[in-house]
Order: sequence, then structure tokens, then C-alpha cells
Amino acid sequence: MKEELEKIKINTLKEIASSSSIDEIESIRVRALGRKGELTAILRGLSKLSHEERSETGKLSNEIKAALEEAIEKRKSEMENAAVEAMIHGDRIDLSLNSPDSTIAKKQGHIHPISQIQYELEDIFTSMGFEVLDGPEPELEYYNFEALNIPKHHPARDMQDTFWTEDGNLLRTHTSAIQIRGMEKKTPPFKIMAPGRVFRYESTDASHENTFYQVEGMMVDKDISVANLIYVMKELLRQIFRQDVKVRLRPGYFPFVEPGFELDINCLICGGKGCSVCKQSGWVELLPCGLVHPNVLRFGNIDPDKWSGFAFGLGLNRLVMMRYGITDIRHFLSGDIRFLNQF
Ligand code: PHE
Repeated sequence: MKEELEKIKINTLKEIASSSSIDEIESIRVRALGRKGELTAILRGLSKLSHEERSETGKLSNEIKAALEEAIEKRKSEMENAAVEAMIHGDRIDLSLNSPDSTIAKKQGHIHPISQIQYELEDIFTSMGFEVLDGPEPELEYYNFEALNIPKHHPARDMQDTFWTEDGNLLRTHTSAIQIRGMEKKTPPFKIMAPGRVFRYESTDASHENTFYQVEGMMVDKDISVANLIYVMKELLRQIFRQDVKVRLRPGYFPFVEPGFELDINCLICGGKGCSVCKQSGWVELLPCGLVHPNVLRFGNIDPDKWSGFAFGLGLNRLVMMRYGITDIRHFLSGDIRFLNQF
């Protein structure tokens, strides 16, 4: 019995060592250790042996079983490693090679039209001496409302309903929050601009989105007047649209400016005659602006008796829509490649 066991062990180990596939190993395993295998048969026959022989043979066959199992596992993992190695070295694809199909090159992406106009504006503003600032999208209530002269329970908060986090913060409803952050960082005189994504809790339609883009601008210096504001706005629009643009100011209400305005531009699509974009009025509302409210300067640690300033907010979506004649704001975030490919 002992000899028979040793023979099984030696033969099986040899076979395992010379096996060349996982399938082959598996069949060796079944033949030696399976339910009807050689070793199992011997173990079954143990009951016919004497007590002493039984325990000795039992022990030996268990040892052999363990040794064979170990050898099988080892050989199997050697083979698996070899297969992976072969795949790594044999299956090389050089991704840097040019595709013979030239249409693939045409599918390269490009900068989103909103980002394009944002970069242009950054260039225009920096050429006029403005510094570009950034601010967080999740914002403190203080920066978004409180310090902008919109205390809790002020009805103006209703105009800018937003998304609140459970710990009482919010997604900023406008880039004006960066006015305060800017004032905290800078000492007058200064000129800052801040582009960014803003959010409103809003039902969407062709001209309303819950997520859109603005650029904030602010200038603080001595004796700033509405004339300064209008000059900078006109210069800005002239550079954006590459032509002189006629503007008009209407009173507008924002608690953080006094006086506050809506600056309209003469419709560039119809030249002022009236069309669907300007709703037949000849004018397009583009730029809310005004002189910075003394309370807001105080919140920014600036003495309103010494300094004054103007601020404005520019909607980037609206600007891109005017430039390309886009009639539905929802295209911007649709992710529709047919829309994006046009820019
Ligand atoms: N933050 C205002 C809005 O989003 C726009 C604005 C900016 C108005 C600066 C005046 C001055 O509606």
C-alpha cells in the first residue's frame, strides 16, 4: 500500500511538472485526487486494513494529498503568470501611432464656447488693469447674501432661490459673493474681475437654467461715478463685439448697489429694428450694474467716506447667445455633441 502511494505521488508530481496547460493540470488533479481518483480509491480501501496499518497509511495519503495539491496550485499560478506576461509583451498596441483614418483626427475636442468667451474677457479685463479672482461654488450665506446687504428675511432673497446644504451653506447664486472676498483681500484702489459658475433653484425654459456662468467686475477708487461705470462698460462691450455698441441705462434694483441699473445694448441681431431675440424692442438686457452700496464697502472693511466704487455682473451664457444667435440656453449643458461641434 505504501509503495503504491509513493508511486502515485512520484508519477503525479512528474506529470504536474511537465504539464503545459491549465486544462491538463485539471485533468491530472481529477485523476489523482478527484472523487473517483487514485488516491481516493486507496483511502476508501482503508477500512479493510488493520488498525495500525490504517492510521499509518491514512496519515501518509493525507500528506501526499496535501503535497500534490500544493504542487498543482504552484504550477497553475506559474502558468497564469506566464500567460499574463505573454499578453503584456506579445499584445503591444502603440497608441501614439497616427490613425490611417484621417476622420479620427477631426474628432479632437475643443474649448467650450462659454470657456472661450471667459478667456477672452479675462484678456480684455487684464488689459484694462483688472485682476482675475476666483471663489468657491459652495458658498457661505454671509458672502452670498448677508455682506451684500441682503439680510435674512429680505425679500430680495426670493429673487435668487438656491440649493442649500444640510449644514446651512449654499451654492452661490451669483459671482457677487467674490466682491466681498475680493475686498477682504485687497486694499483700495483696486480693480477685480471674477468669472464663475452660479446656481439658482429655477424651473428651466429657453432663457432660464439652474446652472449658468457670470463674470463679476468691481472697481474701488476715489470719487468713482456713474460716468466711470458707463465708460468701462462701453469699452468692454466694444472689445467683446468688436464694434461700438449703443447702450442705455434703466433703473435696476440690487441691494448691494446704489444707484443700481440694468444696462441694455442695442440689439446686434437686428440693429435695433426689432426681432425675436430682443422681443421686438430693439434692446437686449445684458449688464446689471451700479455704484457699490456703502454698507457693502463697510462689510469689506472699506471706509465709504473715503472710497467709492462700481460693480457689474455679466451673464456669459447671454453673451454667447447674442454672439452666435443661440435661442435656447439649455443647449449649453445638454452635452449634445451636435450643438458643441458648431463652435
Ligand atoms: N449679482 C447680480 C445678479 O446676479 C448682478 C449684479 C452684479 C448687479 C453686480 C449689480 C452689480 O443678478
